[in-house]
Amino acid sequence: MARPAFLLRPPRADDIIPYMGFLAEPRVSQWLDDGCQRPVPAWRVESFLFRDAFAVWAIEVEGRIAGVAGFSDPDLARGIAREFIVLGNPLLWGQGLGRAVLTNVIELGFHRLGLRKINADCLAPNQAALTIHRHAGFHEEGRLRADAWRNGAWVDRVLFSVLREDGKTPDAVR
Ligand SMILES: CC(C)(COP(=O)(O)OP(=O)(O)OC[C@H]1O[C@@H](n2cnc3c(N)ncnc32)[C@H](O)[C@@H]1OP(=O)(O)O)[C@@H](O)C(=O)NCCC(=O)NCCS
Repeated sequence: MARPAFLLRPPRADDIIPYMGFLAEPRVSQWLDDGCQRPVPAWRVESFLFRDAFAVWAIEVEGRIAGVAGFSDPDLARGIAREFIVLGNPLLWGQGLGRAVLTNVIELGFHRLGLRKINADCLAPNQAALTIHRHAGFHEEGRLRADAWRNGAWVDRVLFSVLREDGKTPDAVR
């Protein structure tokens, strides 16, 4: 199946309601932070999209928001931030979209935001997230054992990073 075309754009106020819909889908929210494991009010989504994150892009597919990606937890003295990616519609998964968006976001992080190191963390059962981060050149730094309660069990959290000097990320020059 061909990868859907996408663009990354700044978030807008009319993204808040669709994003709340994404968070209400357990197949999506189960892989996100603990704060997303219960209903997330509009004010919190607004805060996330417009104030809390270091950089956020809405992922737009066929004129509609399909997810968000960006960076949080900046430590600019060390040139480090934490990357995040969420595709809110499971029907869009498995077509190469996440991989392509992640590649773009890493490029933006290193070359537009001037980051030196990008961190990411994924819950261990989240195979799609592990796969796209490995494809994008992330290295596994370790794991936090039994770190999150999901679906009736404690699961590990895998810690990843990629350095600007790691060179081109495998997909970045396509
Ligand atoms: C993680 C996410 C962004 C991936 O997006 P996507 O568009 O499905 O990703 P892609 O299609 O580009 O790639 C998925 C890869 O994972 C692989 N994969 C998916 N499910 C898998 C599974 N259960 N076991 C092994 N591999 C799996 C696919 O085969 C593919 O690898 P390939 O390119 O080598 O074939 C998307 O699933 C998502 O937003 N999920 C909910 C939120 C989330 O998990 N965010 C990340 C938190 S760390």
